[in-house]
Amino acid sequence: MTALPSHPSSQEDLVHVAIIMDGNGRWATQRGLPRAAGHRQGMEAVRATVDASKELGIGYLTLYGFSSENWKRPESEVRDLMGLLRLYLRREIRELHEGGVRLRFIGNRDRLAKDIVRLIDEAEAMTQSNARLNLTIALSYGSRDEILGAVRETVAKVQAGELSVEALDEHTFSRMLSTVEIPDPDLVIRTSGEQRLSNFLLWQSAYAELIFTECYWPDFGREQLSQAMEEYRGRERRYGAAIA
Ligand code: IPE
Ligand code: IPE
Ligand code: MG
Repeated sequence: MTALPSHPSSQEDLVHVAIIMDGNGRWATQRGLPRAAGHRQGMEAVRATVDASKELGIGYLTLYGFSSENWKRPESEVRDLMGLLRLYLRREIRELHEGGVRLRFIGNRDRLAKDIVRLIDEAEAMTQSNARLNLTIALSYGSRDEILGAVRETVAKVQAGELSVEALDEHTFSRMLSTVEIPDPDLVIRTSGEQRLSNFLLWQSAYAELIFTECYWPDFGREQLSQAMEEYRGRERRYGAAIA
């Protein structure tokens, strides 16, 4: 008997990995530490995961760093998270640039502090010609918010006579989302055992494979990433078609 053909989801098909980085607070609480310690350790996990993604040949990595709903957290925690974000940006941008990483940020910039907006604008401009890894960080991001923005833009275009209702299709609509230059995620990973999307890339993940791992985000790294990639390789993506 001849061997079965390999799964259609070969590694070459894994272009874009998106991660919901969850569990920093519980990681810290479990150790009797303040939640901020979990966020700090989470930043190290970001470093490790970005490095591993480069080594493992991932083309696009998107990280959910702060949701539009996370503004509801206590002011002190938001302040800690924004402080860490500043630290991360100041510390890492140069190294990311030298390592060939192209940085993009999605989410509502209006709510971010001006100096953070400046840092992310600079990072995007500095790294725009890099192509080794496309790293997108979702900050103050909410998928419904993003979709509504695209709806508003669509309506404005129709009203201005620049777009006919008949010409509006998935492709045209996608181009009005903040992920315009980014392919849809093939794999969405969520850490910490929670099994939900929490308003992350809802349109873009229509056919993504989902992997939920018990691991808290601060413990995530190369090993957990390659394990998820291995699991992905065993999946068969059908996009609604019949089983071959
Ligand atoms: C993820 O960890 C970081 C952010 C959402 C900003 P959490 O802070 O949500 O950690 P848990 O879920 O409370 O453990
Ligand atoms: C999702 O985690 C947002 C990020 C990881 C940035 P949350 O911890 O905010 O999600 P919920 O509240 O458990 O759904
Ligand atoms: Mg959480």
